[in-house]
Amino acid sequence: MTTKISTHIHNLTSSPSMANMIKHVQSLVPVHHNYIGSNDSEYWRTHGEILDALDFHLVDKNSSILDFGTQFGFLPWMLKEFGFTNVHSCNSMDEAGTHDELNTVWNFLDIKTPFDLTVMPNIPFTLPQKYDIIFVFKSNMFWLLNDVFCYKRGEITKNWQVTDDKGEVNTFFSVYNKSQYEYFENNIKKFLNPGGIAVVQPDPFVYNTFPERFSEEKKWFSERQQIGYVKVSATQHYPNNENSDYFIIRKDG
Ligand SMILES: C[S@@+](CC[C@H](N)C(=O)[O-])C[C@H]1O[C@@H](n2cnc3c(N)ncnc32)[C@H](O)[C@@H]1O
Repeated sequence: MTTKISTHIHNLTSSPSMANMIKHVQSLVPVHHNYIGSNDSEYWRTHGEILDALDFHLVDKNSSILDFGTQFGFLPWMLKEFGFTNVHSCNSMDEAGTHDELNTVWNFLDIKTPFDLTVMPNIPFTLPQKYDIIFVFKSNMFWLLNDVFCYKRGEITKNWQVTDDKGEVNTFFSVYNKSQYEYFENNIKKFLNPGGIAVVQPDPFVYNTFPERFSEEKKWFSERQQIGYVKVSATQHYPNNENSDYFIIRKDG
């Protein structure tokens, strides 16, 4: 019997060699240092559960896969380690800020260089080819930061992150509505092969916390939370599992 992908992910991300590798990568990137540190086996458990629900361990190793919003490139690296040969990725350089550090990590992991892509709501986007599977894991792409304003001492700014008097970071954002997701779905489907899927995880998934405010969106998601879908479990990083929810876009075969 083929081993489930969650087992591969767990074994790899909890191995001493990965812990050493993460430490080494941290030493290369002073700005992203702490973020890289959270790439532990607990962080990747959610990804493993989602991939198991899709029976990803049975997927052809030559399938064309895109990791949409890869950040450090750990997922393409893992898939390469598991024998997948056709894995691509992209990242938003506009959103990332520190490009040199990401390039350093990508080079170190020896993944195909991620292409640069920033998606804006209701604006068409193009991908370089069609894929069998697209992953949009833990994505803040669906935040509408342009719709957030900060008013302080008579001045209006675009600040959306504030450190409070306890030293905790408070993040403010608005999110895509149903019609913006529909637009995204129609666009991304153009870049899926027949029978292909896109797994989309807006992060955090605020829609479950405010079901009445988002009743239309919740209905739209539920139609895409049928085949190959699982309610992921809570993790140390996401104590409320509802915040890690996701949906699946399918292109007819
Ligand atoms: C928190 S990281 C997720 C990293 C990885 N997918 C994971 O599961 O750990 C969010 C990713 O979303 C991408 N992103 C954010 N806003 C975006 C946008 N407007 N268009 C495209 N990508 C975006 C960032 O570049 C980054 O790679």
